[in-house]
Amino acid sequence: MSENKKTGVIGFPVDHSVSPTIHNHWIDENQIDASCYEKINVDPEQFEEEVGRLKENGTYGLNVTVPLKELAFSFAEELTDVSKQTGAVNTLTFKEGKVYGDNTDVIGFQRSLDKKTIEENITNKKCLVLGAGGAARAVISALNNLNGEVHICNRTYEKAKQIQQDIQIKSEVIDQKDLGAAIYEMGFIVNTTSLGLGNTENTMVDFSQVSSQAFVYDLIYNPKLTKFLSEAKEKNMGYQNGIKMLIEQAAESFRTWHNVLPKNSNVLMNKLEGL
Ligand code: ATR
Repeated sequence: MSENKKTGVIGFPVDHSVSPTIHNHWIDENQIDASCYEKINVDPEQFEEEVGRLKENGTYGLNVTVPLKELAFSFAEELTDVSKQTGAVNTLTFKEGKVYGDNTDVIGFQRSLDKKTIEENITNKKCLVLGAGGAARAVISALNNLNGEVHICNRTYEKAKQIQQDIQIKSEVIDQKDLGAAIYEMGFIVNTTSLGLGNTENTMVDFSQVSSQAFVYDLIYNPKLTKFLSEAKEKNMGYQNGIKMLIEQAAESFRTWHNVLPKNSNVLMNKLEGL
């Protein structure tokens, strides 16, 4: 019997999501028996009704994006340890009458990193996470898995403290006013804030104080080179944007639903660049 699985992404708004390009590319490439992966706007106020309706209509899997990841966490009946640790769900699966929740952002971030970067800049090195939102939680969990020494700095100090308490990972919180004194020791610096999107600038870090040996990562992938990353480029430092993480978290959700771990490729990257 044909399965013809229905999958898609929910968010509010979800119009700018590039997940359909990624998933539909892999559905074709791997000749998966599935419907076209769709974008669905879900109002947070009506989350339960709308997702409940999608479930009843035979949806098999949903990716969940901003601002619905915490609501998806509460909605899921069975949670993976990773989603429990981060308090967020980006992948819902409806099977055997149950709702399963997972967070593939963590493995997505880990797989986006080169072995060399992990060895030289993360493992047993001081790692600085800028921001304390949902994305920061996934990155903190991933860096801890890679034995990085996690430091968190956020505009709102209390939110960083809250993460430290919730996530139960050995970490230090740095007050933004003390960042200048601490930054030189950081081997890895990752921006998880929304600063750098649109016309906003990220001025949290003074690059004149950063070690040129540090690796700089920005979760933002559009624009490809944020001002933050261009400062690293100017200093000849290692850097990368969030496109690989986006693809790798999608790959893991795809594997959960279709039992195939799809590959990143130049063809896919070119498709995404053309959007
Ligand atoms: P996400 O789930 O994508 O991480 P979020 O939970 O809304 O999104 O978190 C956004 C992050 O960007 C927060 O760390 C936020 O800082 P606050 O906790 O102080 O709000 C950070 N951020 C957003 N705008 C900012 C700004 N203008 N300056 C500094 N940090 C900012």
